[in-house]
Amino acid sequence: MNVLLAGGAGYIGSHTCVELINTGHSVIIADNFSNSCPEAVKRVEKLTNTQIPLYEADVCDKEAVEKIFSENKIDAVIHFAGLKAVGESVEKPMLYYRNNIDSTLTLLETMSKYKVNNFIFSSSATVYGTPKTVPLVETMPTGSPTNPYGWTKLMMEQILSDTAHANPDFSVVLLRYFNPIGAHESGTIGENPNGIPNNLMPYITQVAAGRLEQLGVFGDDYPTHDGTGVRDYIHVVDLAKGHVKAIEYAAVNTGCEVFNLGTGTGYSVLDIVKAFEKVNGVKIPYVIKPRRAGDVAECFANADKAEKILGWKAEKNLDDMCYDSWNWQSHNINGYK
Ligand code: NAD
Ligand code: UFG
Repeated sequence: MNVLLAGGAGYIGSHTCVELINTGHSVIIADNFSNSCPEAVKRVEKLTNTQIPLYEADVCDKEAVEKIFSENKIDAVIHFAGLKAVGESVEKPMLYYRNNIDSTLTLLETMSKYKVNNFIFSSSATVYGTPKTVPLVETMPTGSPTNPYGWTKLMMEQILSDTAHANPDFSVVLLRYFNPIGAHESGTIGENPNGIPNNLMPYITQVAAGRLEQLGVFGDDYPTHDGTGVRDYIHVVDLAKGHVKAIEYAAVNTGCEVFNLGTGTGYSVLDIVKAFEKVNGVKIPYVIKPRRAGDVAECFANADKAEKILGWKAEKNLDDMCYDSWNWQSHNINGYK
């Protein structure tokens, strides 16, 4: 299939490009580089020995999106093109609502015009809000997200579900990601956050690289096995493979389906620190800090539905995730710069 990846130069998009190409699909990337750079695409081209049509475009811009659809035969769209910094979304809600929702509407309207009926969406476990019980199952009610970023995801799930309902030919797959970490085994592509990382693994790798002094562990008084927050970390390559399965599912089904993409296992912050130190032989100094506002104690997936229906299951373990994260960062101390 010919797949348009909106936001395909980013962390998850670049890894998904590799897996799509490796399974015989063709990709086209549209990205405005607001949180990425063309170098990531160059590296994907090198890894896969292909040339990727690349459009520097804001996918909220209707003319720019129209140009892409008129110049390419597109079978499916994967929409990664979102702003994702939780804290920033609280400070700049308009920016988040405008970018994340407008991009979705623009893509949908253009797809409708060009009769492209397969849409894969990057949703998030954040739509469950504060879990009442874990593991989280897709049938559980979505909650009240604690920030505008989370609300954009929930609103977009609604928009996409309504769109599929209104058009019997349309197929939407909502992928609720848990916590992607790790990098491609080559160490040539990986996560490259701007400024000081908000997320745990890039913070750890930057401490390991000497760019940051020590990790702050946000709270050690949660009701978890060691008091620190528990999450479902998933290797980004496993996550990327989930998109290949989702594309293939969308091609032969209609309607709107939602899948958790996680491993089903929760690890605490200190589990991650210890695994990282053991696998990589690097010390991660840390200090316990107060809880971070909006964090939940535990969040992990039941990923049985994806296994049963998509035939997808995460294969990589925590050691792989820690090894590959450091392999990427240690070979690219300043990311793509
Ligand atoms: P990322 O920032 O690395 O990738 C997003 C890409 O979209 C970037 O390349 C950015 O430049 C681009 N982009 C943003 N707005 C755009 C626009 N209007 N037009 C064109 N390009 C635009 O983030 P990621 O980690 O790869 O996440 C991809 C998607 O998955 C996002 O929608 C994010 O919200 C979602 N998600 C991520 C996580 C996570 O922990 N990484 C968890 C759950 C969901
Ligand atoms: N943490 C620290 N110190 C840090 C960073 C994080 O202790 O410097 C802790 C957090 O308190 C939490 C865990 O590490 O217990 C994971 O935090 P992340 O920021 O890496 O990830 P979150 O689970 O908070 O959120 C991530 C994405 C969201 C997405 C969610 C889906 O950032 O966009 O996963 O589950 F919605």
